[in-house]
Amino acid sequence: MHVRDLTISYGGGEPVLEGASLSVGAGRFVSLVGPSGSGKSSLLRAVIGLQQPLSGTVETTLTHAEIGLLFQDDALLPWKTARDNVALGLTLNGVERRKALAEADAWLERLGLSGFGDRFPRRLSGGQRKRVALAQVLARQPKLILMDEPFASLDAIVRARVVRDVVALVESGGISVLLVTHDLEEALSLSDDVYLLSQGPRAHITQHYQVAIPRPRDPVHSRAHPAFAPLYERLWDDLSRAVDHRVEAA
Ligand SMILES: Nc1ncnc2c1ncn2[C@@H]1O[C@H](COP(=O)(O)OP(=O)(O)OP(=O)(O)O)[C@@H](O)[C@H]1O
Ligand SMILES: [Mg+2]
Repeated sequence: MHVRDLTISYGGGEPVLEGASLSVGAGRFVSLVGPSGSGKSSLLRAVIGLQQPLSGTVETTLTHAEIGLLFQDDALLPWKTARDNVALGLTLNGVERRKALAEADAWLERLGLSGFGDRFPRRLSGGQRKRVALAQVLARQPKLILMDEPFASLDAIVRARVVRDVVALVESGGISVLLVTHDLEEALSLSDDVYLLSQGPRAHITQHYQVAIPRPRDPVHSRAHPAFAPLYERLWDDLSRAVDHRVEAA
Protein backbone atom coordinates (compact mmCIF):
# COMPACT_ATOMS: atom_id res chain seq x y z
CA MET A 1 0.00 0.00 0.00
CA HIS A 2 1.43 3.36 -1.02
CA VAL A 3 0.28 6.77 0.16
CA ARG A 4 1.53 9.36 -2.29
CA ASP A 5 1.63 13.08 -1.76
CA LEU A 6 -1.45 13.14 0.43
CA THR A 7 -2.92 16.49 1.44
CA ILE A 8 -5.95 16.62 3.71
CA SER A 9 -7.99 19.61 4.73
CA TYR A 10 -11.30 19.90 6.56
CA GLY A 11 -14.02 22.16 5.27
CA GLY A 12 -11.73 23.81 2.74
CA GLY A 13 -9.51 25.21 5.49
CA GLU A 14 -5.72 25.19 5.76
CA PRO A 15 -4.45 21.63 5.18
CA VAL A 16 -3.84 19.67 8.38
CA LEU A 17 -1.48 17.37 6.51
CA GLU A 18 0.43 18.21 3.35
CA GLY A 19 2.24 16.09 0.77
CA ALA A 20 2.58 12.96 2.92
CA SER A 21 4.00 9.83 1.29
CA LEU A 22 4.65 6.48 2.89
CA SER A 23 4.66 2.81 1.95
CA VAL A 24 3.62 -0.33 3.77
CA GLY A 25 5.08 -3.34 1.95
CA ALA A 26 3.65 -6.83 2.32
CA GLY A 27 4.69 -8.32 5.63
CA ARG A 28 6.06 -5.03 6.95
CA PHE A 29 5.31 -3.44 10.30
CA VAL A 30 5.24 0.33 9.84
CA SER A 31 4.63 3.01 12.46
CA LEU A 32 3.58 6.60 12.10
CA VAL A 33 4.45 8.96 14.95
CA GLY A 34 4.03 12.69 15.38
CA PRO A 35 2.58 15.37 17.62
CA SER A 36 -1.10 15.42 18.54
CA GLY A 37 -3.11 17.01 15.76
CA SER A 38 -0.55 16.28 13.03
CA GLY A 39 -3.08 14.30 11.00
CA LYS A 40 -2.21 10.69 11.85
CA SER A 41 -5.82 9.54 12.30
CA SER A 42 -6.81 11.59 9.26
CA LEU A 43 -4.21 9.76 7.18
CA LEU A 44 -5.51 6.36 8.32
CA ARG A 45 -9.06 7.41 7.46
CA ALA A 46 -7.90 8.43 3.99
CA VAL A 47 -6.27 5.02 3.48
CA ILE A 48 -9.62 3.28 3.88
CA GLY A 49 -11.58 5.90 2.01
CA LEU A 50 -13.41 7.41 4.99
CA GLN A 51 -11.69 10.72 4.31
CA GLN A 52 -11.51 12.28 0.87
CA PRO A 53 -8.08 13.91 0.46
CA LEU A 54 -7.67 17.33 -1.13
CA SER A 55 -4.99 15.79 -3.32
CA GLY A 56 -2.76 12.74 -3.49
CA THR A 57 -3.51 9.07 -3.87
CA VAL A 58 -3.66 5.81 -1.98
CA GLU A 59 -2.51 2.91 -4.12
CA THR A 60 -3.32 -0.62 -3.04
CA THR A 61 -4.30 -3.93 -4.56
CA LEU A 62 -6.17 -4.86 -1.38
CA THR A 63 -9.95 -4.89 -1.19
CA HIS A 64 -11.83 -3.24 1.66
CA ALA A 65 -12.46 -6.64 3.26
CA GLU A 66 -8.71 -7.25 3.34
CA ILE A 67 -8.01 -4.11 5.38
CA GLY A 68 -8.74 -4.28 9.11
CA LEU A 69 -9.20 -1.24 11.29
CA LEU A 70 -8.56 -0.71 14.95
CA PHE A 71 -9.29 2.87 15.82
CA GLN A 72 -8.82 5.05 18.90
CA ASP A 73 -12.43 4.41 19.93
CA ASP A 74 -13.45 0.80 19.67
CA ALA A 75 -16.64 0.22 17.80
CA LEU A 76 -18.20 -2.76 19.55
CA LEU A 77 -21.96 -3.16 19.30
CA PRO A 78 -23.26 -2.69 22.86
CA TRP A 79 -26.24 -5.02 22.37
CA LYS A 80 -24.09 -7.96 21.31
CA THR A 81 -21.90 -10.14 23.51
CA ALA A 82 -18.13 -10.18 23.10
CA ARG A 83 -18.39 -13.48 21.21
CA ASP A 84 -21.10 -12.16 18.89
CA ASN A 85 -19.15 -8.98 18.26
CA VAL A 86 -16.13 -11.00 17.16
CA ALA A 87 -18.24 -13.42 15.10
CA LEU A 88 -20.11 -10.63 13.37
CA GLY A 89 -17.38 -9.79 10.87
CA LEU A 90 -17.12 -13.46 9.94
CA THR A 91 -20.84 -14.04 9.43
CA LEU A 92 -20.99 -10.86 7.35
CA ASN A 93 -18.25 -12.42 5.22
CA GLY A 94 -20.42 -15.50 4.71
CA VAL A 95 -18.92 -17.82 7.33
CA GLU A 96 -21.52 -20.16 8.78
CA ARG A 97 -22.66 -19.00 12.24
CA ARG A 98 -21.57 -22.03 14.26
CA LYS A 99 -18.10 -21.92 12.73
CA ALA A 100 -17.92 -18.15 13.26
CA LEU A 101 -18.75 -18.55 16.97
CA ALA A 102 -16.10 -21.25 17.38
CA GLU A 103 -13.49 -19.05 15.71
CA ALA A 104 -14.58 -16.09 17.83
CA ASP A 105 -14.00 -18.16 20.97
CA ALA A 106 -10.58 -19.23 19.75
CA TRP A 107 -9.54 -15.59 19.15
CA LEU A 108 -10.92 -14.46 22.51
CA GLU A 109 -8.92 -17.21 24.16
CA ARG A 110 -5.73 -16.23 22.33
CA LEU A 111 -6.17 -12.69 23.58
CA GLY A 112 -6.63 -13.78 27.18
CA LEU A 113 -10.42 -13.43 27.26
CA SER A 114 -11.62 -17.01 27.59
CA GLY A 115 -14.68 -16.98 29.82
CA PHE A 116 -15.65 -13.45 28.73
CA GLY A 117 -17.46 -14.41 25.52
CA ASP A 118 -20.92 -14.03 27.05
CA ARG A 119 -20.28 -10.56 28.44
CA PHE A 120 -21.72 -7.44 26.90
CA PRO A 121 -19.24 -4.62 26.22
CA ARG A 122 -20.50 -2.49 29.13
CA ARG A 123 -19.44 -5.24 31.52
CA LEU A 124 -15.86 -5.30 30.21
CA SER A 125 -12.99 -3.01 31.19
CA GLY A 126 -11.54 -0.60 28.62
CA GLY A 127 -8.59 -2.91 28.00
CA GLN A 128 -10.83 -5.94 27.64
CA ARG A 129 -13.01 -4.12 25.14
CA LYS A 130 -9.90 -3.19 23.20
CA ARG A 131 -8.89 -6.84 23.06
CA VAL A 132 -12.37 -7.85 21.86
CA ALA A 133 -12.06 -5.23 19.12
CA LEU A 134 -8.64 -6.63 18.21
CA ALA A 135 -10.06 -10.17 18.12
CA GLN A 136 -12.81 -8.89 15.83
CA VAL A 137 -10.25 -7.46 13.41
CA LEU A 138 -7.86 -10.44 13.53
CA ALA A 139 -10.63 -13.03 13.12
CA ARG A 140 -11.35 -11.67 9.66
CA GLN A 141 -7.73 -12.38 8.68
CA PRO A 142 -7.01 -9.04 7.03
CA LYS A 143 -3.87 -8.56 4.92
CA LEU A 144 -3.30 -5.05 6.26
CA ILE A 145 -4.31 -3.73 9.67
CA LEU A 146 -4.53 -0.01 10.37
CA MET A 147 -4.15 0.62 14.09
CA ASP A 148 -4.65 3.93 15.85
CA GLU A 149 -3.09 3.82 19.33
CA PRO A 150 -4.65 0.41 19.95
CA PHE A 151 -2.61 -0.57 22.99
CA ALA A 152 -2.84 2.60 25.07
CA SER A 153 -5.43 1.36 27.56
CA LEU A 154 -3.90 -2.05 28.21
CA ASP A 155 -1.95 -2.89 31.34
CA ALA A 156 1.75 -3.60 30.81
CA ILE A 157 1.57 -7.40 30.86
CA VAL A 158 -1.52 -7.71 28.69
CA ARG A 159 -0.08 -5.11 26.37
CA ALA A 160 3.16 -7.06 25.98
CA ARG A 161 1.18 -10.22 25.23
CA VAL A 162 -1.14 -8.62 22.69
CA VAL A 163 1.75 -6.83 21.01
CA ARG A 164 3.71 -10.07 20.83
CA ASP A 165 0.71 -11.77 19.16
CA VAL A 166 0.45 -9.05 16.55
CA VAL A 167 4.19 -9.12 15.85
CA ALA A 168 4.09 -12.92 15.55
CA LEU A 169 1.28 -12.62 13.00
CA VAL A 170 3.32 -10.20 10.92
CA GLU A 171 6.44 -12.36 11.19
CA SER A 172 4.57 -15.51 10.16
CA GLY A 173 3.81 -13.74 6.89
CA GLY A 174 0.86 -12.46 5.01
CA ILE A 175 -0.11 -9.49 7.12
CA SER A 176 1.17 -5.94 7.32
CA VAL A 177 0.51 -3.28 9.93
CA LEU A 178 0.35 0.50 9.85
CA LEU A 179 0.42 1.59 13.49
CA VAL A 180 -0.16 5.08 14.84
CA THR A 181 1.37 5.50 18.27
CA HIS A 182 2.69 8.18 20.61
CA ASP A 183 5.00 5.65 22.21
CA LEU A 184 8.37 5.99 20.49
CA GLU A 185 9.78 2.88 22.15
CA GLU A 186 6.82 0.88 20.95
CA ALA A 187 7.20 2.25 17.42
CA LEU A 188 10.88 1.32 17.23
CA SER A 189 10.70 -2.04 18.96
CA LEU A 190 7.88 -3.30 16.73
CA SER A 191 8.52 -1.69 13.37
CA ASP A 192 10.58 -2.17 10.25
CA ASP A 193 9.91 1.44 9.25
CA VAL A 194 8.95 4.49 11.31
CA TYR A 195 7.70 7.71 9.73
CA LEU A 196 7.70 10.99 11.66
CA LEU A 197 5.15 13.73 11.06
CA SER A 198 5.90 17.34 11.98
CA GLN A 199 3.52 19.47 14.00
CA GLY A 200 0.42 20.61 12.11
CA PRO A 201 -1.17 22.47 10.45
CA ARG A 202 0.47 21.58 7.14
CA ALA A 203 2.19 18.68 8.88
CA HIS A 204 4.53 16.74 6.65
CA ILE A 205 6.61 13.62 6.93
CA THR A 206 10.03 14.82 7.98
CA GLN A 207 11.84 11.54 8.60
CA HIS A 208 11.78 7.88 7.65
CA TYR A 209 13.77 5.56 9.90
CA GLN A 210 14.54 1.96 9.03
CA VAL A 211 14.89 -0.23 12.08
CA ALA A 212 17.65 -2.76 11.55
CA ILE A 213 16.78 -5.07 14.41
CA PRO A 214 16.56 -8.67 13.17
CA ARG A 215 13.38 -10.74 13.21
CA PRO A 216 11.87 -12.70 14.75
CA ARG A 217 11.80 -10.06 17.46
CA ASP A 218 10.73 -10.12 21.00
CA PRO A 219 9.15 -6.67 21.37
CA VAL A 220 10.29 -6.26 24.97
CA HIS A 221 13.83 -7.52 24.54
CA SER A 222 14.48 -5.90 21.18
CA ARG A 223 14.86 -2.66 23.16
CA ALA A 224 18.17 -4.04 24.38
CA HIS A 225 19.51 -4.43 20.83
CA PRO A 226 22.50 -2.13 20.13
CA ALA A 227 20.67 -0.46 17.23
CA PHE A 228 17.82 0.62 19.51
CA ALA A 229 19.26 3.36 21.74
CA PRO A 230 20.86 5.50 18.98
CA LEU A 231 17.68 5.34 16.88
CA TYR A 232 15.54 6.21 19.88
CA GLU A 233 17.70 9.24 20.59
CA ARG A 234 17.46 10.42 16.98
CA LEU A 235 13.71 9.96 16.88
CA TRP A 236 13.26 11.73 20.21
CA ASP A 237 15.45 14.68 19.12
CA ASP A 238 13.69 14.97 15.76
CA LEU A 239 10.25 14.89 17.38
CA SER A 240 11.26 17.45 20.03
CA ARG A 241 12.67 19.72 17.35
CA ALA A 242 9.43 19.50 15.34
CA VAL A 243 7.41 20.52 18.38
CA ASP A 244 9.84 23.25 19.64
CA HIS A 245 9.95 24.75 16.17
CA ARG A 246 6.22 25.36 16.25
CA VAL A 247 6.26 26.65 19.81
CA GLU A 248 8.95 29.19 18.87
CA ALA A 249 7.15 30.15 15.67
CA ALA A 250 3.87 30.77 17.52
N1 LIG B 1 -13.80 16.02 11.26
C1 LIG B 1 -12.95 17.04 11.42
N2 LIG B 1 -13.33 18.31 11.12
C2 LIG B 1 -12.47 19.34 11.26
N3 LIG B 1 -11.21 19.21 11.69
C3 LIG B 1 -10.78 17.98 12.01
C4 LIG B 1 -11.63 16.84 11.91
N4 LIG B 1 -10.92 15.75 12.30
C5 LIG B 1 -9.71 16.22 12.64
N5 LIG B 1 -9.62 17.54 12.48
C6 LIG B 1 -8.42 18.38 12.72
O1 LIG B 1 -7.37 17.90 11.91
C7 LIG B 1 -6.14 17.90 12.61
C8 LIG B 1 -5.56 16.51 12.60
O2 LIG B 1 -6.41 15.65 13.32
P1 LIG B 1 -6.08 14.11 13.55
O3 LIG B 1 -7.17 13.56 14.37
O4 LIG B 1 -5.81 13.48 12.25
O5 LIG B 1 -4.71 14.25 14.38
P2 LIG B 1 -3.86 13.12 15.10
O6 LIG B 1 -2.46 13.26 14.60
O7 LIG B 1 -4.52 11.80 14.95
O8 LIG B 1 -3.90 13.60 16.64
P3 LIG B 1 -3.89 12.71 18.00
O9 LIG B 1 -2.46 12.27 18.17
O10 LIG B 1 -4.27 13.71 19.05
O11 LIG B 1 -4.87 11.59 17.86
C9 LIG B 1 -6.45 18.45 14.01
O12 LIG B 1 -6.10 19.80 14.04
C10 LIG B 1 -7.94 18.26 14.15
O13 LIG B 1 -8.49 19.27 14.95
MG1 LIG C 1 -5.45 10.51 16.29
